[in-house]
Amino acid sequence: MLSILVTGAKGQLGSEIFFLADQYPFLNFIFVDKNLLDISDRQVVDDFFKEYEVDVIINCAAYTAVDKAESDQVMAKKVNHLAVKNLIDASSKQKIPFIHISTDYVFDGKGFKPYATDDPKDPQNVYGKTKMQGEDALFQSGLDNLMLIRTSWVYSSFGNNFVKTMLRLGAERESIGVIDDQVGSPTYARDLARFILESIPRINWEGVKTFHFTNEGVCSWFDFAKAIMDIKGLNCKVNPIPTENYPTPAKRPHYSVLDKRDTREFYRQEIPYWRDSLEKCLELL
Ligand SMILES: NC(=O)c1ccc[n+]([C@@H]2O[C@H](COP(=O)([O-])OP(=O)(O)OC[C@H]3O[C@@H](n4cnc5c(N)ncnc54)[C@H](OP(=O)(O)O)[C@@H]3O)[C@@H](O)[C@H]2O)c1
Repeated sequence: MLSILVTGAKGQLGSEIFFLADQYPFLNFIFVDKNLLDISDRQVVDDFFKEYEVDVIINCAAYTAVDKAESDQVMAKKVNHLAVKNLIDASSKQKIPFIHISTDYVFDGKGFKPYATDDPKDPQNVYGKTKMQGEDALFQSGLDNLMLIRTSWVYSSFGNNFVKTMLRLGAERESIGVIDDQVGSPTYARDLARFILESIPRINWEGVKTFHFTNEGVCSWFDFAKAIMDIKGLNCKVNPIPTENYPTPAKRPHYSVLDKRDTREFYRQEIPYWRDSLEKCLELL
């Protein structure tokens, strides 16, 4: 039975993997949150791999506070870059397959067609830069069986996210303004978790293989918010606003759609359409 280490297990993605774990009785999971395994602490990571036998690592741990990262660069780099190196170094002697999650924010967001996995990277904010450095650590390791999955606009019934914020505002206010000139694809963390777990038995390649995984379809944050209000029957008018009317410390990409051609071919399962998955998640909220 394969032993699967899931770091950052209390985050959105980690929690969804935990939820699905029962459906994979042939996998033995080791779920660890920051208290049990702080991946930014080299010594803690080294000691962990001496104590536990691990066959596959799924790194769900990350510093994901995009705006806070602008003024907290040291910590963002520690978790999104240096900690990835810690995990790779500690596991490299045993050549453990490593699944790492990254972001659409590694791209510049100035494009008009979906970003291919090998398109040039040019992150526009600190979070994106540190995530790119984490990716680079994978590519520079020279190891095999590394899987890099970029995703975007992640939400879940677990944790805090855009969907939950909209539900709260939708219940409190008569109207809200939501940005309509940033376009991307939402990702239900449960769909991403399933893709990861289905991929495990098929990890067998040289070096790093990069996949893009989001739900199918494209929308703006305005469309996304409107769908949340409509599906939940909330009586809150959503008004479109331009990015400049909602200034944030971190610059956000205007276009962050990810090209999923390789993923569709590899997965061989239908990736759910974003609104269908949103309905499923909202049933739980
Ligand atoms: N959320 C998005 O919209 C989005 C978009 C694109 C890509 N991604 C990527 O997708 C992955 C999963 O994201 P998510 O939404 O599940 O993130 P999340 O909900 O923020 O979960 C991340 C988890 O990592 C933990 N963590 C932070 N520092 C750690 C450390 N030093 N050691 C161990 N654990 C640590 C966090 O714990 P604390 O909460 O206690 O700090 C949290 O439980 C990440 O790689 C993220 O960069 C996310």
